[in-house]
Amino acid sequence: MKKILIINASKRKNGNSYALEQYFAEKLAGKAEITAFRIGEKAVNPCLACDACKKQHTPNCIQRDDFTALIPQIDSCDALLILAPVHWDQFPAQLKAFLDRTYSFMDFTQSDFSMAGRKDKKIAGYFFAGFGPVDIYTQMVDTNLKNFAIAGFRTEKAHVAGNANVPGSIMEKPDDLKAADEMAAWLLD
Ligand SMILES: Cc1cc2nc3c(=O)[nH]c(=O)nc-3n(C[C@H](O)[C@H](O)[C@H](O)COP(=O)(O)O)c2cc1C
Repeated sequence: MKKILIINASKRKNGNSYALEQYFAEKLAGKAEITAFRIGEKAVNPCLACDACKKQHTPNCIQRDDFTALIPQIDSCDALLILAPVHWDQFPAQLKAFLDRTYSFMDFTQSDFSMAGRKDKKIAGYFFAGFGPVDIYTQMVDTNLKNFAIAGFRTEKAHVAGNANVPGSIMEKPDDLKAADEMAAWLLD
């Protein structure tokens, strides 16, 4: 059974990321082993850029927080699914800190700069925006997802649902739910 790690990067517990976390969990039930990591309930410190992680050749970090504890799962899962709002045209701050911490997978002695144990993993980003522009936000998400290649995520898929300011309104958007169904199938494939 595939191991899928869901990163929920919203603070709104009644919001769209939480609604789709449940939706994806139902779609993937019995087909994948799901772990949800809700960043809003976790401690993910900024990267110290101390380069202590460059003195080794397996992913690790000298900080002792919830990101460091998650490293083995990030390294061994089959796929990562990020559910998150767009904040000021970008990744929300805690998710950006999460991305920065994947520096602990970077190894300058490797030809592909990665010390990830697995380099065949998939990453999907399903984002929500109050307004848009959805096409530009999709590009922004895609560009950021490509940075996860250092942690071994080498194929990516992005979707942004616009006009989603109202908490839970995603459940009334058939086209966006269809995109979620397609993303779930892609993650399982
Ligand atoms: C600090 C902050 C910044 C935001 N910036 C944007 C933005 O730049 N563009 C946009 O379309 N929506 C923006 N929004 C709206 C959220 O993206 C939108 O409400 C989203 O559906 C929230 O997802 P959630 O319910 O999963 O938390 C912002 C919301 C907050 C709180």
